[in-house]
Amino acid sequence: MSLKLKSGFTFDYDNLYGEGKVTEADLKSYEEDLKKAHEAMKVMRETGFIRAHLSKDGEPEKVLFSQTPYVEEGHINSPSSLKRLQKLTDHVKGNVDVVVSMGIGGSYLGNKVLFDVQCGAYWNELTKEERNGFPKVYFSGNNIDPRSTGDLIHHLEDESKILQYHEKRNLKVLLLVISKSGGTLDTMSNFMVVYDALQKYPGIDVEVIAVTDPNMEKQTLLKKLAIEKGWPQFAVPDGVGGRFTVFTEVGLTLAACIGFDIKSFLDGAKDMDKACQNDDIWQNPAMLNAALKFAASEKHGRDIEVMMPYGDYLKSVSEWYIQLLAESLGKQFNKEGKEVCYGRTPLVAVGTTDMHSQTQQHQEGKLNKVVQFVKIEKWANDLVIPNTFPEAKKLADISGVTMSEALEVARQSNADALASNKRYNACFALPELNAYHLGELLYMLAMSVAYEGELADVDAFNQPGVESYKRIMGPKLQALKAAKAAK
Ligand code: PA5
Repeated sequence: MSLKLKSGFTFDYDNLYGEGKVTEADLKSYEEDLKKAHEAMKVMRETGFIRAHLSKDGEPEKVLFSQTPYVEEGHINSPSSLKRLQKLTDHVKGNVDVVVSMGIGGSYLGNKVLFDVQCGAYWNELTKEERNGFPKVYFSGNNIDPRSTGDLIHHLEDESKILQYHEKRNLKVLLLVISKSGGTLDTMSNFMVVYDALQKYPGIDVEVIAVTDPNMEKQTLLKKLAIEKGWPQFAVPDGVGGRFTVFTEVGLTLAACIGFDIKSFLDGAKDMDKACQNDDIWQNPAMLNAALKFAASEKHGRDIEVMMPYGDYLKSVSEWYIQLLAESLGKQFNKEGKEVCYGRTPLVAVGTTDMHSQTQQHQEGKLNKVVQFVKIEKWANDLVIPNTFPEAKKLADISGVTMSEALEVARQSNADALASNKRYNACFALPELNAYHLGELLYMLAMSVAYEGELADVDAFNQPGVESYKRIMGPKLQALKAAKAAK
């Protein structure tokens, strides 16, 4: 059983729905709730209103991620904002050797997905010509780790020495600092350490672009700095929480720096949004995914979701999804303020890698998981396994098969083995790994958690839980600083 869109995007739910799995009766019991959830999505699209959603300051706040695929003047993405991104592309191609994308959580995870899919693992090893004129890219700010930050600084200093030797010029580094709140400790401490070190280094020219909340009345620290120093600014728009911002200038500024096809990405999201407007659950991938996962959790105790794409460069999709699911649905209270402690626990896995580590648990451990596969139907640059050692029969047997065929046989075998032992699983199939289908997938997952928030009656768009440690950490840091000053 599967739902296939015109684009070829497919949701195969054969191993999740039917006898001994989520049943027709399960879904029937949610008929009214699904209607209400679908209605809520319509209202969200039209007005940005989501019942009971408040900002972290307790103010009513719109939810606008569903506007992002529609490029129109006055929208979050508009023809003029895309033109500005094109100018950024022209600027980095002509004037920048290295971009450091600095951010954490929603200001990092989506950017890493775009980078991995577009650039792969060896981008920074290529020549500038091979990169089609685009700069090298590094990530920073997604931890407070003195070793990795120090390594980055030293690496850039070394790159500058090599450039001085060969081209007798300075290394041009662009720090793309991304923080909605503009004051996140992890991002801003890295920014200050890296900025300070690079500014002082004679062979490096540094420029900064700030991506932050554009609100002029309540300016973020990063915005204030950007105004004072004259750094160009891009927006983390109001109404789009961090984990939904890959479709905004958070993701799109990085996309512009690596030649990622922004138009196709947004088109994929838009076509998916249209599919998700379908009233018929069997034609609406986000509603169907949410309903099946919600029922699996609530009626069958399968409240862990293992996101397991097949392919190395898709691991970051899994990491992006982990934040989306965890922050959106892990909630102590429902919309009426009643304690519910809802949330399906997400786990990162990658096929085939984790078939050699986690699969034992998936296959025989507690009956509490849904394994969600992602597969690519047609791989670019596929490789045929050659008959290198004909004398070794077992190896000769796999020769002539392409690596992508072997990958898919491994995935199918895993799916079949899990299904044969009451283990729920499902698969999203992308015809190819490109910007369009990636846009479809990420948008569908975002819309699916929005549906599930309504089904579970929790606010999928706030994250009050992450404020708790921040309230403890702030005074602790101040006390540390005071103690150090007193010494
Ligand atoms: O989803 C979220 O809201 C968080 O993960 C944030 O993106 C993360 O904490 C970074 O916040 P900021 O962009 O304000 O630096």
